[in-house]
Amino acid sequence: MFTRRAIFGICALALAAGASGTQAFAEDTVKIGLILPMTGPSASTGRQIDAAVKLYMAQNGATVAGKKIEVIVKDDAGVADTTKRLAQELIVNDGVKVIAGFGLTPLALAAAPIATQAKVPEIVMAAGTSIITERSPFIVRTSFTVPQKAMVIGQWAGKNGIGKAFSLVTDYAPGLDAEKWFKDAFTKGGGQVIGEARVPLANPDFSPFLQRVADAKPNALFVFVPSGFGAIFAKQFVERGLDKSGIKLIATGDLPDDDILNGFGDAAVGLISADPYSAAHPSEKNKAYVAAFQKANPNMRPNFMSVGGYDGMHVIYEALKKTGGDADGTKLVEAMKGLSFESPRGPITIDPATRDIIQNVYLRKVEKVNGALYNIEFGAIDQVKDPGKSQ
Ligand code: DHB
Repeated sequence: MFTRRAIFGICALALAAGASGTQAFAEDTVKIGLILPMTGPSASTGRQIDAAVKLYMAQNGATVAGKKIEVIVKDDAGVADTTKRLAQELIVNDGVKVIAGFGLTPLALAAAPIATQAKVPEIVMAAGTSIITERSPFIVRTSFTVPQKAMVIGQWAGKNGIGKAFSLVTDYAPGLDAEKWFKDAFTKGGGQVIGEARVPLANPDFSPFLQRVADAKPNALFVFVPSGFGAIFAKQFVERGLDKSGIKLIATGDLPDDDILNGFGDAAVGLISADPYSAAHPSEKNKAYVAAFQKANPNMRPNFMSVGGYDGMHVIYEALKKTGGDADGTKLVEAMKGLSFESPRGPITIDPATRDIIQNVYLRKVEKVNGALYNIEFGAIDQVKDPGKSQ
């Protein structure tokens, strides 16, 4: 049953949606609600995206197509109920024309019905479960899909004689996507998954699972953990002596995350992963991006989440240019479909059919460069669509 508050919320959203067509055009300011986990276990995602959004606006100005852009940042601390409430308040009370951010899958999903009811674009700058874009026709994703990464590392492992692997993932939707798509690609390449474990998202303790891995003696351990969780995994991997066990560590790029990679120590050297972004990506565009990011944020290195935020702002700016400053949600989403441009990670496109991102996925190996650890690219699969959509 609907509570009175919920009914009020739905009516207010409907009013906001009805008014948006005419009002948006007349207003001088287009407000964007940026909902991020600025505190809690995923705070690194919030910090990275917030910094990248600020950098984009510093470089490109706060006016586009005659409209002043105003970003309102809200902290959901990674709690889905809070994300939903903030999305509703931002749309109804603050009049935002776009909601953006969404650091984890449950947060992106919680906002989806709000985006649909209010006809407000939801730009997913972080969360990576395949199904997210199918939950609302107003969702556009500028981050990645976990299956894009897991499939590419699975293919690499199949082709490179890994033979037997153990799979260890965080127990929520993107982890299950990682487990499925790694296994699918790896077994098609002749590999065998000899053990699977799922570790809780809240307060993860990897130790008992790592003991199972040691006992199973695979040639490789495949890992997916969300951004920011790699540090605790690395500590426990070393404490359990797995770095000396001869078991090769392979992963999606979420584990050797640029934000925390240097904290891993030498145990990370040689780790092979697949990801659309490395701070060491050798393009001119990326060199300029990393330099500008670090100038503005001296103690940070941009990671794969940051480019989701940076490119998400570009998508909003380009859409507003195409609509001539009209912030009507349906028109903005139409304008975003098919956008194609060079990101710091390489060429990307918003798939007009799915509103999901098409991008290169790179193979990388952790190496020490001038005393610091980096993911050094050694191969690429070009223009990967989300494999989760094709089934
Ligand atoms: C998700 C979150 C992450 O931090 C990540 O690295 C990958 C996926 C998610 O919740 O979708």
